[in-house]
Amino acid sequence: MQSSERRQAIIVLDFGSQYSRLITRRVRECHVYSELVPATTTLAQLQQNTHLDIKGFILSGGPASVYDELAPACDPAILQSGLPVLGICYGMHLLAQQLGGHVAHNLGQREYGPATIEVQVDAVLDKRALRIFEGISISPEQTDHLEQVTETTPLRLPVWMSHGDSVDTLPPGFVVLARTESTPVAAIASPEGMVGLQFHPEVTHTPQGKEIIRNFLFRICGCEPGWTANSVIEETVEQIRQQAGRERVICGLSGGVDSAVAALLIHKAVGDQLTCVFVDTGCLRAGEREQVVDTFSTHLHIPLVVVDARQRFLARLADVSDPEQKRKIIGAEFIRVFEEEALRLEQEGGPIAFLAQGTLYPDVIESTSHDTASTATRIKTHHNVGGLPEDMIFKLVEPLRMLFKDEVREIGLALGLPEEWVWRHPFPGPGLAIRIIGAVDEERLATLRAADTILIEEIRRAGVYRKLGQAFAVLTPIQSVGVMGDGRTYANVVAIRAVTTGDFMTADWARLSPDLLGRISNRIVNEVPGVNRVVYDITSKPPATIEWE
Ligand code: XMP
Repeated sequence: MQSSERRQAIIVLDFGSQYSRLITRRVRECHVYSELVPATTTLAQLQQNTHLDIKGFILSGGPASVYDELAPACDPAILQSGLPVLGICYGMHLLAQQLGGHVAHNLGQREYGPATIEVQVDAVLDKRALRIFEGISISPEQTDHLEQVTETTPLRLPVWMSHGDSVDTLPPGFVVLARTESTPVAAIASPEGMVGLQFHPEVTHTPQGKEIIRNFLFRICGCEPGWTANSVIEETVEQIRQQAGRERVICGLSGGVDSAVAALLIHKAVGDQLTCVFVDTGCLRAGEREQVVDTFSTHLHIPLVVVDARQRFLARLADVSDPEQKRKIIGAEFIRVFEEEALRLEQEGGPIAFLAQGTLYPDVIESTSHDTASTATRIKTHHNVGGLPEDMIFKLVEPLRMLFKDEVREIGLALGLPEEWVWRHPFPGPGLAIRIIGAVDEERLATLRAADTILIEEIRRAGVYRKLGQAFAVLTPIQSVGVMGDGRTYANVVAIRAVTTGDFMTADWARLSPDLLGRISNRIVNEVPGVNRVVYDITSKPPATIEWE
């Protein structure tokens, strides 16, 4: 972020590609602020945000063809603004079509997957247009060793393609920069800073993609790399100060990274005007409550209230087996406990005006985009700890609203949150209750806690914790026969779930080594009373979900 009042920004217009969010993240990884906005957003609407110094636009790809009846278009004022525009795939087609070129409609024919583009150095009349490929070379392992590389050898880059249509007539002033064997127009540019790429520079399958994006940002748009953890902290703290003034703020800690970083930012901004509340639902993992107290009150000196609500939750959960019932009970009870605590704090220390929430940028995008989120089938009732009850009269502080998860982690580290906390796997609000299949009671909770602790210990010891999206144990209601020593046993089956995932929307089961699985199984069966069998869940999401309930 820039030190002046206005922050340099690249606006990504979302034409519906599965990679739109990724484009925004890639830009931010280059330390330039970027926002993803719906395709129909106009220049006039964007200019209403006077905090932003827009340096350029990226038109994302999308599933449509420019020939579709309802094909989304770009506000012409954006293309006439004089600012650079990078069109990717569908974005390139729009750019070409809206500026007077022509797109060939390849009915039913798609080029999908890896391809090689050849950058046509001599075809370029104006050197400025070449800047998108300036300084890019392929790594030694990408070169064909038999080929003698000279200055005139065309640059060949591996890229990721996914398109049906392609540009066949350039808009006035444009030149072709690259082609592939099957697509004569794979990259185009104009001296005014308009660039069209038929391939996807944002995905890792385009190895030089990040450099191409960097060229657009720094060589074409003239951005400065000002979006860093420290500048985000500085600006967010200032915003919180302005918003909260002298008022009190309450923040529910979940034990996860988001609420912890939100609390740290707010504490930095308004100090002891913040009170954090941690509710022990009785469904936490071993040592979790102690860790929260130790980190927050002891090390970070942030005022923390721990509410021991274990008995209340367990009483309400008694004999409840239905997963949705469990979630609803825990969600409702959590809100009740939180409200009571807020009331008590107000009676003791004066009114509380604000409630902090760890809302992240993807949640904001989700709620502003016109995708199908609202009509999608409800698979599970997600209760996020700290959720706002409808009749509560708090105003919201959401310091992470514009941040992606990886940025939250970086800020957490910069603010002194321990590494272990920053990289902790997500843990659902309903906790262990939805990892015990069937009714929840203290004994079953103790069994699951013990198994889960061993699993995490072994995974950490094997050095794979950070590579996994989530790993946990599930206590099944199944009992099976076993033999221990000379005796027959009839005891519980524990399932192990470990997944790799980028966004938790899809996930694959982790290929843990047989040795590691063996150690986990051995220790659980030997050390956890009442368990005599361990199984490993080898189902991806979809069709399964990550949690079992
Ligand atoms: P599923 O099971 O839907 O989980 O594949 C996706 C991610 O969401 C987490 N999860 C929850 N988080 N409250 C939460 O705060 C919930 O009720 C909840 N249910 C699932 C799950 O752990 C995974 O990270």
